[in-house]
Amino acid sequence: MQIIDGKLVSKTIREELKRKIELANSQGVSFKLTVIIVGNDPASEIYVNNKAKGCAEVGILSETVKMPESTTQAELESVISDKVNDDSVTGILVQLPLPKHLDSQSALKLIPPEKDVDGFSDGNVGKLTLFKQDALFSCTPFGMIKLLEYYNIPLCGKHAVVIGRSNIVGKPMSLMLLNKDCTVTVCHSRTPNLADFTKNADILVCAVGKKHLITADMVKDGVVVLDAGINRVDGKIYGDVDFDGVSQKASYITPVPGGVGPMTITMLLYNTYLAGINDEKRRV
Ligand code: GUN
Repeated sequence: MQIIDGKLVSKTIREELKRKIELANSQGVSFKLTVIIVGNDPASEIYVNNKAKGCAEVGILSETVKMPESTTQAELESVISDKVNDDSVTGILVQLPLPKHLDSQSALKLIPPEKDVDGFSDGNVGKLTLFKQDALFSCTPFGMIKLLEYYNIPLCGKHAVVIGRSNIVGKPMSLMLLNKDCTVTVCHSRTPNLADFTKNADILVCAVGKKHLITADMVKDGVVVLDAGINRVDGKIYGDVDFDGVSQKASYITPVPGGVGPMTITMLLYNTYLAGINDEKRRV
């Protein structure tokens, strides 16, 4: 059994990205991420600080626009529009969740797919669905694909079972795996007899948010397991997969923490790089 080391892969990608960005800078191309945060949610502030730190590490310029809790929809949309029209800004991200009085859907609609480094927009989801090369992908599933690639795990013809159908993780992950020639089954909260599906998975992706939903009796020998679950219980973080049991049968498995988690911000940096290279065939 091989543990999939998200910290190692993340570090490797950041180092490669730093070199690519230095080269692009020397050719007059620069990259700038604008992060917009509204209100004082402590968890969001930590995420946003980590995004800024990540940018500094790889040579992406960044700015954080902090707006008060009392921000109106019109004020938020005006800031987004300014950044959309600012050519020096190559990527825009509105930190979620927004305060309840704001409509995130209509605000996010203002960000064109070319600057949507979260990959959440209708345009980028459409491009992913159509397998267009210039899509910007949602960062967490994109990170999971990079983990599979790093460990040279074959995907063509494999049966991938994705548990969870969120717009941010499960749904895009199922499309990315389909794009990689997997046969894909998507399970969710209304799927009866989950084990009937998970037992047939060559690759099992969990993105549900239920501590230890997947136990050893639910998987076959040799399964590859990617666990995007982050479940906080009594100050500790657990995945959706019972790592101790399932790792006895898996060929590859991500731990929680230290597996999928470290990849998310790295792929945001990667997307900001891709967004800044104005090239139709930029996918690398
Ligand atoms: N809040 C928690 N995770 C994310 C993310 O990946 N993107 C945005 N925009 N907000 C978040």
